[in-house]
Amino acid sequence: MRIIVHNTKCQGHARCSAQAPEIFKLDDEGYILPGDIEITAGEQLLALQGAQSCPERALEVDRT
Ligand code: F3S
Repeated sequence: MRIIVHNTKCQGHARCSAQAPEIFKLDDEGYILPGDIEITAGEQLLALQGAQSCPERALEVDRT
């Protein structure tokens, strides 16, 4: 599983990081860092919760 980060949609709500700070890293201004995030099997639930918490839908779950 992978999270595709759509940086242009991020508005700095930081809800993703509040759910899973080890998975969703923010820059100094509170925006998600660019680059897709590879999710290990053990992180999947937290990653899903974090991705779904984003009100801007900036975090796309890729299950392929
Ligand atoms: Fe950005 Fe959404 Fe997280 S707006 S900081 S990706 S909750």
